Amino acid sequence: MRLSVIGCGYLGAVHAAAMASIGHDVVGIDVDQRKIEALSKGEAPFFEPGLQEILAAGIASGRLQFTTDMAEAHGAKVHFVGVGTPQQKDGYAADLTYVNAAVDGLLPFLSDGDIVAGKSTVPVGTAAALAERVTPTGATLVWNPEFLREGFAVKDTIDPDRLVAGVPAGAEGEQAAEVLREVYHPAIAKGTPFIVTDLATAELVKVAANAFLATKISFINAMAEIAEVTGADVTTLADAIGHDARIGRRFLGAGIGFGGGCLPKDIRAFSARAEELGRGESVAFLREVDNINLRRRDRAVDLVVEGLGGSVFKKNVTVLGAAFKPHSDDIRDSPALDVAVRLHGLGAWVTITDPEALGNAERLHPQLNYVADRDEALRGADAVIVVTEWDEYRRELSPEHAASLATGRVIVDGRNCLDASAWRAAGWEYLGMGRP
Ligand code: UDX
Repeated sequence: MRLSVIGCGYLGAVHAAAMASIGHDVVGIDVDQRKIEALSKGEAPFFEPGLQEILAAGIASGRLQFTTDMAEAHGAKVHFVGVGTPQQKDGYAADLTYVNAAVDGLLPFLSDGDIVAGKSTVPVGTAAALAERVTPTGATLVWNPEFLREGFAVKDTIDPDRLVAGVPAGAEGEQAAEVLREVYHPAIAKGTPFIVTDLATAELVKVAANAFLATKISFINAMAEIAEVTGADVTTLADAIGHDARIGRRFLGAGIGFGGGCLPKDIRAFSARAEELGRGESVAFLREVDNINLRRRDRAVDLVVEGLGGSVFKKNVTVLGAAFKPHSDDIRDSPALDVAVRLHGLGAWVTITDPEALGNAERLHPQLNYVADRDEALRGADAVIVVTEWDEYRRELSPEHAASLATGRVIVDGRNCLDASAWRAAGWEYLGMGRP
């Protein structure tokens, strides 16, 4: 099927390449000339495992093209809209400028029977408003939220947990759902659940899923706060409650909390939207989820201060990690980088290393010291803090080797990803998050 994908950022670029990889003819459209040039050469504009390969294969096959010209969308059966919905500069609500601009730009090129499929995460009610603009063209607006995780984006797009299609009522909606079924045929044939619903439910599924995940993380981080004043161990607690299948162990990793381009902004936008709808109290707990999350960054900084005897001023602190999570070069709302910046603010000489995110981090915070080589970064450290659980720090860095490079013996485990007893046995003062 011929498809267009409007917006070639994280979501759109992966979606375009993934759709070409399952056999569709895809044109990816973005206003950013440099991004389009890179993508047209088969180069991924950001680090995402597996993307480079499917991008290059798509370009080579001729099934995948990129352009800045919206007119190229003409002739596609389905137009996916995957532009960003960032947090507004002066508030918590989502900024819908890009979504509105993408749909408005697309309108002149739509044909009767086309489908416009929104993928961006939007406040509930957005799709209904967009449908009013799309319907006069004879096209149908549907909402098809995206649940991809960074680092697993290609796999999550080609082989998702579930597919959700919000469609208008009646025959038009049923036809649109049929077309989406065809688009995602390979996944559906493998048994992926395909949930057809109304527009509002589809929009809400996405924000509800992210709100739940954020709540799960903040729940365990709240337990970490209690563990810290009682001498309990939050990792054992998470293991124990995680054995209950109703709870599950995943997303019970206590540490410096969640960041990235989705969870933080999505829970804030959800709160803002609920307030607009007169139901602020229904999701008031999300404010607390946000507060708990931000407090964990303070706690990590406090542990470094504590480990260094009460002050980090003019101490060498090596920060292992900058990305908001491993397998990503994304530093948007990264708790890792935030901790580094706070330590710098307290007068520490901060050295940061990360396997993928250094370039992005340096562009945002040029005042910090960046060292690509992990061992070089560890040399002379008075204290070390792990803030992104890359294998390079979690598995491949032995406490003995770290001790041969660092000057001090303080290790703060901001992700509870290290073997505490091994580090202690090697002479380190190990400080975890919610662990004795
Ligand atoms: C998330 C959702 O998982 C995805 O479905 C949605 O489409 C976009 O938002 P992503 O932002 O890529 O995906 O990252 P995710 O793996 O969910 O991690 C989010 C943050 O939570 C990271 O900062 C991670 O370090 C943190 N996290 C995750 C924890 O602190 N503890 C955990 O147990 C799990």
